[in-house]
Amino acid sequence: MSKNIVITPGDGIGKEVTAQARKVMEYMAKRFKLVLEFTEVPIGGTAYDLTGTPLPDETLQACKAADAILLGAVGGPQWETLDYSVRPERALLGLRGELQLYANLRPAQIYGELVGASTLKPEVVDGADIMVIRELTGGIYFGQPKGVEIRNGERVGFNTLVYSESEIRRIAKVGFETAQKRSGRLTSVDKANVLEATELWRNVVQDVHNDYPDVELNHMYVDNAAMQLIRAPKQFDTIVTTNMFGDILSDAAAMITGSIGMLPSASLGGKVGLYEPVHGSAPDIAGQNLANPLATILSVGMLFRYSLDLREADELIQKAVENTIKIYRTADIMAEGKTSVDCQWMGEEVIKSLEQI
Ligand SMILES: NC(=O)c1ccc[n+]([C@@H]2O[C@H](COP(=O)([O-])OP(=O)(O)OC[C@H]3O[C@@H](n4cnc5c(N)ncnc54)[C@H](O)[C@@H]3O)[C@@H](O)[C@H]2O)c1
Repeated sequence: MSKNIVITPGDGIGKEVTAQARKVMEYMAKRFKLVLEFTEVPIGGTAYDLTGTPLPDETLQACKAADAILLGAVGGPQWETLDYSVRPERALLGLRGELQLYANLRPAQIYGELVGASTLKPEVVDGADIMVIRELTGGIYFGQPKGVEIRNGERVGFNTLVYSESEIRRIAKVGFETAQKRSGRLTSVDKANVLEATELWRNVVQDVHNDYPDVELNHMYVDNAAMQLIRAPKQFDTIVTTNMFGDILSDAAAMITGSIGMLPSASLGGKVGLYEPVHGSAPDIAGQNLANPLATILSVGMLFRYSLDLREADELIQKAVENTIKIYRTADIMAEGKTSVDCQWMGEEVIKSLEQI
């Protein structure tokens, strides 16, 4: 049976890294005797330049009809002065909302070879393997009312943090089920001492815990969680948290691993999963074949695991990446004694490495 993979390369290095990731998918399709059909559609600033909107209807419809979506990255300085409603980043919020992708999974796993690339001491990070699950379609990024208006003669900006019980319940379930498949430990992060919406969060997570007695649950305030992530990251296994706290904590967790160029993500919950690297469009290195494609290639691994039910393919890709970086490095993870390669070369080395496993 054929599977329809939609690729939305987006802007900047998004185009370069998805090109390498596509080659890995083509290789894996042959290896696992899958028929993958690829459709490439524009998104972000590139789509705005072509059609006047960052999320054209054609792109949205293609994504809705897909079996899985691979996204590069969106944004760039040339679109920063546009109205918020048509900024490239709006396409991401629109897509997540339309596809009901309420669960964002971001693994932050340190590869032994890259322990030295972290800004933290090797003994603090060696062996760290954290899965951050961020609620993606609710909370303060979506709550109403929001805006900037004049009150008492001055400008006032406001956003609303709102979570319904059902929104918390469904992401908590993802948290517990993910923890079950890992080491069985879940940390729920909130600010229940100050924010009523997250007091509800804590109560509902506690309630859902009754259905997962085999998972060890603890609650942590977000300020403490930020500190603990840097102080002793290995104490965490699976973390589940709100949209904004997850946005910040997952970037902090990411940096434990040394490079943003190594971090994949999956957004799940609806009918179709969306996979993308954690990094952005990196305008400073775009168009120069310098980007590290490994985050996107690892995102392909997650695509095989979660949307095509091929865990083995994900494990193979992770192993191939691990083997490749023993010798080859892009500039962002370059170290003494390694061979410096560009984006395309790195993609080719991953395929060679896959052929050897
Ligand atoms: N999901 C997304 O599409 C997404 C995420 C974050 C930022 N953005 C957008 O990307 C643009 C640039 O944002 P930014 O500079 O804050 O973040 P960024 O992730 O694009 O870049 C941050 C730094 O990391 C480097 N970097 C990022 N990815 C890399 C890779 N694969 N290989 C090597 N180096 C890499 C960049 O060169 C840069 O120095 C903005 O328009 C922002 O809105 C998009």
